[in-house]
Amino acid sequence: MDKLLISGGNPIDGTIRISGAKNAALPILAATLLTDEPVTLRNLPHLNDITTMIELLVCMGVEVLINEDMSVQINAGTLKDCTAPYSLVKTMRASILVLGPLLAHFGEANVSLPGGCAIGSRPVDLHIRGMEALGGQITMEDGYIKARSNGRLKAADYFFDMVSVTGTENVLMAAVLADGVSVIENSAREPEVVDLAHCLVAMGAQIEGIGTDTMRVTGVEKLHGCDHKVLPDRIEAGTYLVAGAISGGRVHLKDVDPKTMDSVLVKLRECGAEIITTDNSIVLDMHGKRPKAVNITTAPYPAFPTDMQAQFTVLNAVAEGTGTVEETIFENRFMHIQELHRMGADCTIKGNTVVIKGVPKLHAAPVMATDLRASASLVLAALVAEGDTLVDRIYHIDRGYECIEEKLQLLGATIKRVAGKG
Ligand code: EPZ
Repeated sequence: MDKLLISGGNPIDGTIRISGAKNAALPILAATLLTDEPVTLRNLPHLNDITTMIELLVCMGVEVLINEDMSVQINAGTLKDCTAPYSLVKTMRASILVLGPLLAHFGEANVSLPGGCAIGSRPVDLHIRGMEALGGQITMEDGYIKARSNGRLKAADYFFDMVSVTGTENVLMAAVLADGVSVIENSAREPEVVDLAHCLVAMGAQIEGIGTDTMRVTGVEKLHGCDHKVLPDRIEAGTYLVAGAISGGRVHLKDVDPKTMDSVLVKLRECGAEIITTDNSIVLDMHGKRPKAVNITTAPYPAFPTDMQAQFTVLNAVAEGTGTVEETIFENRFMHIQELHRMGADCTIKGNTVVIKGVPKLHAAPVMATDLRASASLVLAALVAEGDTLVDRIYHIDRGYECIEEKLQLLGATIKRVAGKG
């Protein structure tokens, strides 16, 4: 398994481009199953999760062409099999996103139940109840969700008793082809859900209330192809801004959308960063100062994103003062804490909150990544730790951060990938 070897202490100062959002690209790739016409997607990030989703579509018989400008053309008109096999789903739980489109367009879906993962059990009951509300017949057989519909799905009103990002995306993708008007209440409002909705509208879907917690969908009989550019990744962007905040440095991000990052930018300003934004760029400058500790509570958008929780834990670990990080979305998203302890961080877990007392310096130690964002936080900690840190199991990172070594080198970091044995 590859590792990342990072020598801490370099000044961070540079300019990088932000890639397309993984968590928008994944549902939008699944949405190509809703039409028999070719869909062209641009700005897809080159990540393992994206490759896995494309592999999943190909194994169903979908035609995928990579154009010379790196855009991808997908045509589900050639689909032969409505099955998402365990071999692929076990590596990426977001595979569940093919459930809604397959059921709505082909009247059939066989999707392996996703395994649990490091950040909690992450059930899919809200997805399944949504499909049933729209007239799908769901059974569980041999670890697979077997979904069928007799003819076209029927529109319905569906209330999410818990905000679910991919749950909202699955129900939305099923409703756009259902017969009648569906109302989806307490839906997720994440920018990635909005980007999916915009892509669906470009395909001919009729959706009102995009970006709000109530979407009204008037089902249509058919959707057509479109050409869609995926929005920038706000979590990748936030991660690199924290690299500047913890090192007293300066980071200039291009091809980013600051309007999707208010809750993160507010907290970065609170920790002492000077932040200047345009429509598609952000400059963070600490002017050499140490960050001040901040208090974070994660919650659904537009509140502070859970996917930035581990990164801000590292910010507090080296900040002036004591800060708290409260995780309200997932029940086990503190796997990085014991690794940070080994680097000298002073963190105490109290229920779903971590109390972090800033220390002047972290020190290098061999550490191990456990989930995508936890692994990013260990890389951040290594950037400012004294000595050389070896981060193991970085396949987690490759799922969500495109070219992380190259981008950090452009910011001044000393980092290289070390091929691991086995
Ligand atoms: C999406 O996961 C993201 N993944 C996650 O990003 C992100 O952390 C999460 O939303 C929260 O923002 C993608 O978009 C591919 P949820 P998702 O359904 O949709 C519970 C990353 O790092 N729940 O919004 O799986 C669930 O257990 C990843 O890029 C149910 O109980 O998350 C959790 O406690 C990690 N039943 C809460 O809801 C369900 O049927 C929110 O989960 C579904 C969810």
